[in-house]
Amino acid sequence: MRKLTYFIACSIDGFIGDPQGDAETMMAFVNEEFLAFLKEEYPETISAEGRRILGLHDLVNQRFDTVVQGRASYQLALDIGLLSPYGHMREFVASRTLTEAPDPNVELISEDLVGRVRELKAEEGGLGIWLCGGSQLAGELIDEIDELVIKTYPLVYGSGMPMFGSGFAAAEFTLEQVRTFENGVLVRTYSRKR
Ligand SMILES: NC(=O)c1ccc[n+]([C@@H]2O[C@H](COP(=O)([O-])OP(=O)(O)OC[C@H]3O[C@@H](n4cnc5c(N)ncnc54)[C@H](OP(=O)(O)O)[C@@H]3O)[C@@H](O)[C@H]2O)c1
Repeated sequence: MRKLTYFIACSIDGFIGDPQGDAETMMAFVNEEFLAFLKEEYPETISAEGRRILGLHDLVNQRFDTVVQGRASYQLALDIGLLSPYGHMREFVASRTLTEAPDPNVELISEDLVGRVRELKAEEGGLGIWLCGGSQLAGELIDEIDELVIKTYPLVYGSGMPMFGSGFAAAEFTLEQVRTFENGVLVRTYSRKR
């Protein structure tokens, strides 16, 4: 069984971006120390564009070999001409409006989202599955999430896009690890209590 991990950046008050989902203000906290952590532990979460800008071309996937994202999140890459933003993994994009995958490495999930994610989780071997976001997709897949890795930046937004676009239900998770960084960033890892 492969784990589905929601690895996500958020504010202190649990928002993944401004009301439109823009998380640009978090980027200021991705300094040398934090980037070294990402490169070592979660290199696959650095997008093709990030790799190009930073000149990182020899990163080996450590935790994930598959990424699942909603079309609105993927749209941000499409808008800048990146058809395969995480080409170093298998890429799945949930969409009912895209009729054809824009890139051969991208597979669309247009129906039975939960069923398809369960199939991916049931695959033998390999690394884990990264639930990249956004809010709507995480809300629909909340019951399938096995692990949370929450990068919390020292910012309060007041309002914004919530971590989960779903209704109220208390789901319990066990705190496994807390990493702190000098600039006030926290990375908490939780496993699902089943
Ligand atoms: N802070 C972070 O780490 C982080 C990470 C990722 C994303 N984000 C932000 O999140 C924002 C986007 O989040 P969002 O909640 O608006 O959208 P989203 O979850 O990324 O995507 C929603 C879209 O996914 C498709 N979808 C959802 N459920 C589906 C289902 N059951 N079957 C098939 N397709 C389904 C639909 O696409 P169609 O409309 O094509 O049908 C829907 O419009 C972006 O602004 C991004 O910046 C932040």
